[in-house]
Amino acid sequence: TMSSIEIGKKAAATAAVNDWLKDNQKVGIGSGSTIVYAVERIAERVKNENLKISCVPTSFQAKQLITEHELTLSDLERTPELDLVIDGADEVDKDLVLIKGGGGCLVQEKIVASCAKDFIVIADERKDVKKLGDNWKKGIPVEVIPMAYLPVKGKLESLLGGEAILRLAKSKAGPVVTDNGNFILDCHFSDCMKDDWYKVNLQILATPGVVDTGLFVKMANKVYFGTTDGKVTTRL
Ligand code: A5P
Repeated sequence: TMSSIEIGKKAAATAAVNDWLKDNQKVGIGSGSTIVYAVERIAERVKNENLKISCVPTSFQAKQLITEHELTLSDLERTPELDLVIDGADEVDKDLVLIKGGGGCLVQEKIVASCAKDFIVIADERKDVKKLGDNWKKGIPVEVIPMAYLPVKGKLESLLGGEAILRLAKSKAGPVVTDNGNFILDCHFSDCMKDDWYKVNLQILATPGVVDTGLFVKMANKVYFGTTDGKVTTRL
């Protein structure tokens, strides 16, 4: 049986796919645990309604999901303009600013999202926060070029007023290596950061060695939150 959190994830994912997926679309597929339910629903609709959908992955995991569900796999060379991207998030604030990258796929997720007309976020209700950082105690994930991680760590610590922690692998000694061969710094920040995320994102990006940040500002158009009893609320 499904845990109540999983019920929320599935409800949000199913509702988003039902509302947004149309025939002949090019769709970006996000990463994480919630997107799994969205891909299941996409595959179901493709089969039942005989839809023509091509899917662009945001990670190795997403690519596997697309393949396992026998969906059409594409990429940004064949499909540089997408109709839709569906993805999860670690936190969503009232202005639809997101923290992403808990799964380490933030760089490709942001690239793919930037190529889509509509960026739809699916999440369980725990991800809904008044201010970023309220629930997500890991801070802002920042992908860095490996040889630069230490100087970048120092610079981001003074910029953000908190510790930037090199993300370590769970089943090997040493750092997590992203799908792009880079490292991740989980950057904690002080409360005064919580005002202008657009600016904070640009400041982090201006640091040499930073590839991208898990702050997604002015990107999402709609968020679906699923509750533990399977209800869905949305935010525009
Ligand atoms: C992956 O890098 C993340 O951005 C995920 O999209 C995010 O962590 C959401 O994952 P869950 O759906 O597992 O919460």
